[in-house]
Amino acid sequence: MSRDAGSRHLRIPGPTPVPERIRRAFLRPLVDHRGPAGRALTRRVLAGLQRLLGTRHPVVLYPASGTGGWQAALVNTLAPGDRILVPETGHFALAWAALARECHLEPVILEGDWRTPADPERIARALAADREGRIRAVCLLHNETSTGVTSDVRAVRAALDRVGHPALLMVDVISSLAIAPYAHDEWGVDVTVGAVQKGLMLPPGLAFLAVGPRARAARRRHARLPRGYFDWERMIEANAEGLFPYTPATAMLFALEEALRLLEEEGLERVFARHARLAAATRAAVAAWGLEVQCRDPRAHSAALTAVRLPPGHDAEAVRAHLRARHDIALGGGLGRLAGRVLRIGHLGDLDGVTLLGLLAGIETGLGACGVPLRGSGLPAAMAVLAAEETDAETSPS
Ligand SMILES: Cc1ncc(COP(=O)(O)O)c(C=O)c1O
Repeated sequence: MSRDAGSRHLRIPGPTPVPERIRRAFLRPLVDHRGPAGRALTRRVLAGLQRLLGTRHPVVLYPASGTGGWQAALVNTLAPGDRILVPETGHFALAWAALARECHLEPVILEGDWRTPADPERIARALAADREGRIRAVCLLHNETSTGVTSDVRAVRAALDRVGHPALLMVDVISSLAIAPYAHDEWGVDVTVGAVQKGLMLPPGLAFLAVGPRARAARRRHARLPRGYFDWERMIEANAEGLFPYTPATAMLFALEEALRLLEEEGLERVFARHARLAAATRAAVAAWGLEVQCRDPRAHSAALTAVRLPPGHDAEAVRAHLRARHDIALGGGLGRLAGRVLRIGHLGDLDGVTLLGLLAGIETGLGACGVPLRGSGLPAAMAVLAAEETDAETSPS
C-alpha cells in the first residue's frame, strides 16, 4: 500500500495513528440503525461518553468535526446580539470567537499572550463589570492546541461563582478529553464540547456535547438562533429511544465504542498518567536541547502536546518539511501568530515511551540537520523521566 510522507509517524496534535482494534471496528457489517442492534449501539456509546465526560446529563453526538460542536453549543443556548466572553488562550480560542461572530453573537475577547492559561481573576473582573448581564456565556478552551497550554476549569467556575454571574460555562475539551482528568458535572460546566480525533484515537468525523440542565433551560427560554441540524432537543428526544433524528455515522459509532472500550480496559487513571509521563519526557528533551517550550506556566503544561519555540532566524516550517521528507514524521506547525515559530509535538493517543523516544530521536536529528543549535541530546533526559516515573510496563492501547 502506498503511503504519504509523514503518515508513518503522524504526531500532529491529533489526529494521530488509529489503533488496530479501532480500524477493524470500521469493517464490521453495518446494522439497521433503527433496529435493535443499532439502538443498543447508540445507548452503549452515549453511556460510555457520559462516563468519560463525568456526567449524568445528556450527551449528544453529531457527524461533524469539533467546529460543528462549537456551533451546536452556541446556537442551542444563545440569541442574536448576546455577548460571550472568550479568554484568548491562542488560535482556537479566537477561532471559536470568530465562529460566534458569524452566528450573530458578540464575542468579548480577553486578550492573552498565548503562553499562559486563562486568568480566572480577569474573567471575574470582566463579568463583574457586566452589570446589564449581556454576557451569556464564557467559552473556555480546557487545552489550547495551538500553544500546549491547559487552563484550570475549576478555577474559572469558581470565578463565575464568586461574582455571582449567571453566564453559562462552555468548555472545549477537544484536545484534553481522555488525555487529562475532566469532570463535567463535578466541575460545574454547562456545556462541554468534544471531538473524537484526539484522545479518543479515531479519525475525525464526530463531535459531541455534554449538556447540563442550565444549558437545556437556556435552549427553552432564551435561545433564538437558527439551530437546524444542530438542535439538541430533537437529538435528546430521539436518543432516548436509541435513535437519531437522521442517519447516524454507524461505522464511526462502532469505532467509537471500541475506543471507549480500549480506554476503559487501560483504565482512565492510567491513561492520564501515561500522557503526563510522555509529556514530561518530551519537555525534558526540549530543555536538554536548550530550546524553549511555548507554555510559560509550569502548572499549565499540556498533557496532549508540547509546542517548542525555535530560536529567532530558524523557520519551523523548514524543519517540518525536512522531518516529513526524511523521517516520515509529521509534527504540527505554528498557527496564527505562531506561524513558522513553533513545532508542535503531539504526544497524545496511541503512544508509549519507546515510540516517543524514537520520535524524539528523529526530531533531534532533523533539528540538527536544519542547523538549529542544540545544547545537547534530549534522549538521556527523556529516558530518565520515563525510567523514574515508570511504575508499570508501558502498554500502548493497540
Ligand atoms: C482545542 C480545539 N478546539 C477546536 C478545534 C477545531 O476542531 P475541528 O478542526 O475538528 O473542527 C480544534 C482542532 O484541532 C482544537 O484542537
